[in-house]
Amino acid sequence: MYTHHEGFTLWLTGLSGAGKTTIAMQVEQTLRAQGMRIERLDGDTVRQGLTRDLGFSKEDRDKNIERVTFVAKLLSRNQVGVVAAFISPYRQARANVRAETTNFIEVYVNAPLDVCMTRDVKGMYKKALAGEIKNFTGVDDPYEAPENPELTLYTDRESIEESTAKVLDYLALRRLITLPEVR
Ligand code: ADX
Repeated sequence: MYTHHEGFTLWLTGLSGAGKTTIAMQVEQTLRAQGMRIERLDGDTVRQGLTRDLGFSKEDRDKNIERVTFVAKLLSRNQVGVVAAFISPYRQARANVRAETTNFIEVYVNAPLDVCMTRDVKGMYKKALAGEIKNFTGVDDPYEAPENPELTLYTDRESIEESTAKVLDYLALRRLITLPEVR
């Protein structure tokens, strides 16, 4: 069992379509199946509730991350493992999360822009390139890549399983989880 551990804030940042949600869900499922207390926070769902009043200007993105930071702070200091998936394009905003939360781990979900555009899971790049959506990250809005992330996942070259295993191995290395015995 993954019991009696400190909380953490596993923070997945990267472009839209890089694979943040997919990896976050895999990590969440694996750890919850082992009895750990996990909460996944994801831009796609959080923006339908807690931050539904916000758009995608720098100011609004900063507010989005600021509110999520507050939630992650409360959870992670109470032994909950937080798995957060947000584009979070601004370095300063991510530095604030690091400063405010318990056992912050920055994971750069790194897929080249052209790969994300080709995947175009939600059809949003097509719209952004056509000018139908403004301020789309990577198209006409900035993404400040992490300079010193704890972990980088190359989702264009690694399978979902490999990327997920890298995350779990890192959490185990930090003693934030205990991996089950493998025979
Ligand atoms: S963040 O920049 O504030 O961290 P967040 O991760 O919450 O963004 O939300 C990103 C999601 O919003 C994307 O996956 C996409 O589906 C949607 N979205 C809508 N408009 C934009 C935009 N202009 N830029 C990026 N994502 C957008």
